[in-house]
Amino acid sequence: MLDDAEIRTRARAVLDAHWDEGRGHTYPHKSTYPHQWLWDSSFSAICWHHVGEPQRARRELAGVLSAQFGDGFVPHMRYASANHARGPLDHCSSYTQPPIYAHAARILAEAGPLPAGLTDRIAASLDWLWRRRRTPEGLIRLVHPWESGADDSPRWDDWVAAYLGAADPSRLRWKRPTWSAFDRYLVDSTVYDDAGVADHSAVFECAPAAYNALYAHAAAELAALTGDRLWKQRSAELADRIDTLLWDDQTALWSDLPIVGGGPCARIPTLDGVLGALVTQDPARAGRALDQLLDERRFAAPYGLAYVAREHPAYDRDTYWRGTAWMQMNYLAALAARRWDRAEVVSAITSMSKAAVAHSRFAEHWNPETGEGHGAIPLTWSALVVTFQA
Ligand code: GLC
Repeated sequence: MLDDAEIRTRARAVLDAHWDEGRGHTYPHKSTYPHQWLWDSSFSAICWHHVGEPQRARRELAGVLSAQFGDGFVPHMRYASANHARGPLDHCSSYTQPPIYAHAARILAEAGPLPAGLTDRIAASLDWLWRRRRTPEGLIRLVHPWESGADDSPRWDDWVAAYLGAADPSRLRWKRPTWSAFDRYLVDSTVYDDAGVADHSAVFECAPAAYNALYAHAAAELAALTGDRLWKQRSAELADRIDTLLWDDQTALWSDLPIVGGGPCARIPTLDGVLGALVTQDPARAGRALDQLLDERRFAAPYGLAYVAREHPAYDRDTYWRGTAWMQMNYLAALAARRWDRAEVVSAITSMSKAAVAHSRFAEHWNPETGEGHGAIPLTWSALVVTFQA
């Protein structure tokens, strides 16, 4: 186990090593992920704030929102070099990602004034999602798994099985080339608007529990920042829809609602399903979901949190989004636990997170049982471990 001072020194080194002074943001990892990502940069801004670099924090957050379109859309990636891998545009992705920027802005405001116009940009982005991406039931819908941030979660397996012509999704084994081909197929199937932004899809649409919870949380954070009641109302309205439409009493989690395609895999117990606790008004539901963060049959593990419940057949402790642990998920789970004053849950996540960075060397994701690192090592948002310090 590393002590707090050593963790802080190493986290700071990870942040510094991935900062691009010219572009004013960090890369998730300089060679594996050489662009700016929306939710990564929002988390990096929080990291800079916590290591006492408010200027960098503000530049990072302002930079990611600088890619905003005139109608409010914010792309999931701002490219450092032109490509067409994520839709018809060559300077940025045509998709979006979880709106962590509102929470990041609320944290950054603790250290001084935000850059001019930042809250207006955040409002315009949330408004774009509200106008353009709501289902008739009032939930936010996504048109590609990338938009959830949880790219290869087992909750998408019914869509993958349909694409592969496989009868039984539970028999699928994750292979990067297969999942990458599926991703490209979804890009090709997306219908884009005149500006080249993803609008809808005839094969994949889903209202994920986590994205909806993060949106409702973002709206509440924006209301706290600006005092604008509209965002308080929208947050409450969406939280109510999440509780009415997504709560699954059997797993005691919030599950996803497939809109186009999909099937029962949307109810596989993943950590995403806990994030409804960020916004629900129901203490009993929040309590039952958060209890699972301490339960070793569910998400608790020596180097947790496991992304998929450990007792579920889909749990794969070494594979990307199939059971490995992620620091940004630990951060969000702890945020939900703090809302309900679950100090013992926060303390457990703190211990798991500190043990994990030491073993995995600040890896992108890691085996929750052994701490062995996977993916890009180090990855910038693993520096969020500093938020678990006293
Ligand atoms: C992977 C993750 C995604 C993240 C990106 C950059 O694609 O699934 O959530 O934003 O890497 O770190």
